[in-house]
Amino acid sequence: MSTETAPAATPAYSFKHPFAARHAVNVKLTGPGSEKETRHHEISLAGSGITYLAGDALGVMPVNCPELVEEVITALFAKGDEPVTGRDGQPKSLRDALRTDYAITFADRKFIEAGAQRGVAELKAMMAPEKADELRKYLQGKNELRDYVDILNEFRQLSFTPEEFVKLLGKLKPRLYSIASSLKAHPGEVHLLVVNVIYAIRGRPRKGVCSTFLADRWPEEVTAGVWVQNQQKHFSLPADGTTSAIMVGPGTGVAPFRAFMEERQALGAQGRNWLFFGEQRRGSDFFYEHEFTRWEREGFMRLDTAFSRDQAHKIYVQHRLLERAKDIWTWLDEGAEFFVCGDKERMAEDVHQALLKIVETEGGKTPEQALEYVEAMRKVKRYKRDVY
Ligand SMILES: Cc1cc2nc3c(=O)[nH]c(=O)nc-3n(C[C@H](O)[C@H](O)[C@H](O)COP(=O)(O)OP(=O)(O)OC[C@H]3O[C@@H](n4cnc5c(N)ncnc54)[C@H](O)[C@@H]3O)c2cc1C
Ligand SMILES: NC(=O)c1ccc[n+]([C@@H]2O[C@H](COP(=O)([O-])OP(=O)(O)OC[C@H]3O[C@@H](n4cnc5c(N)ncnc54)[C@H](OP(=O)(O)O)[C@@H]3O)[C@@H](O)[C@H]2O)c1
Repeated sequence: MSTETAPAATPAYSFKHPFAARHAVNVKLTGPGSEKETRHHEISLAGSGITYLAGDALGVMPVNCPELVEEVITALFAKGDEPVTGRDGQPKSLRDALRTDYAITFADRKFIEAGAQRGVAELKAMMAPEKADELRKYLQGKNELRDYVDILNEFRQLSFTPEEFVKLLGKLKPRLYSIASSLKAHPGEVHLLVVNVIYAIRGRPRKGVCSTFLADRWPEEVTAGVWVQNQQKHFSLPADGTTSAIMVGPGTGVAPFRAFMEERQALGAQGRNWLFFGEQRRGSDFFYEHEFTRWEREGFMRLDTAFSRDQAHKIYVQHRLLERAKDIWTWLDEGAEFFVCGDKERMAEDVHQALLKIVETEGGKTPEQALEYVEAMRKVKRYKRDVY
């Protein structure tokens, strides 16, 4: 059966001209005992005419956390109602500009430079070329970085007028999220699966801007800017509905595969589907368990799970892939496409190594031949990744 689909996302709304959307559903999927807060969001596209395809991503324009905005105002010894220049060049209050226009969660080099120019010796010392690594850690180090509030509070002599301060800030940027729904299954809606970025540094709570905006600061009655990022060039469903799909999506990486499955079901695509999902614990972190296990029961999908913390030693999706090496090779040999979504830093590379191993051992190839085979898969777009 053909999987001829509707034309890709209409470009009427874009990064520069987002659609003012409403947040219709916001549900926590992680249960008691989970170490994460991962949420399912449904955003209404009603009235927009926006279309998208499985594999596309949604751009979301967040606003900053009001508590952080107040902390910045206090650290600047300001009141918040001072007029400053907004991102669009128009005047607005410092409070509003910090809320909607500027990035305030991470300080950058420009700010340290401005502090050094204002005579703060410690900041001047940090600008020395031989201190580049230290400066990077100071501004970006995991569990140690300093934001504007930290720096202004550490160097109380450092003073900026509100206008001087906002001139040093970068623009607040949107974030992208893999779309977790098929438009055919949910007309006028787009679904996302988002893990909250929350951590603390030196006892001060820190929040990722957009994940916590989605979780806590986007009430239904308020609109927020969204648009569709067409990703069909690198992350589309198999063009032929009879082609098999092997999908590897631990954590929030499973989002586009829910969309794939819904889309294939709506299209009546006959190709086989095999999902490898991983999370920390089955009891608290098995997102969309009901849907996935139903599809498995119905024979629409083969499902393998890897719950990393349900036993003494870690089990990850790549371990499951290796356990199923023989079948994976058979599927690949018969033309299956291989998809990976989620963590770029560690998971994607480990899964890549597992794929090479499977091709080598089950396909009877040398390591060089396996590399060539996987590279060829990539070139003809049978190996597709969306990693972040
Ligand atoms: C194509 C694409 C698809 C994506 N799909 C999804 C998806 O489906 N679901 C999803 O949840 N995310 C997804 N993401 C990631 C998403 O875009 C955001 O990056 C994510 O939500 C974090 O954004 P934030 O604004 O909440 O956090 P930010 O304000 O951007 O903060 C995140 C940053 O905080 C820093 N940080 C985190 N912990 C610490 C620490 N302990 N110490 C110091 N620094 C730290 C890291 O540098 C990290 O990059 C996707 C990204 C891309 C590019
Ligand atoms: N760039 C950003 O701002 C940003 C923001 C949010 C999330 N992310 C990233 O997005 C990704 C998804 O986050 P998530 O919380 O949904 O899921 P995740 O952190 O990827 O965790 C999902 C599962 O993958 C396991 N895992 C850890 N290392 C692995 C590896 N090397 N190979 C295979 N599996 C591995 C985890 O196990 P254990 O936890 O038990 O090790 C867990 O069971 C993460 O990489 C996260 O860092 C990025």
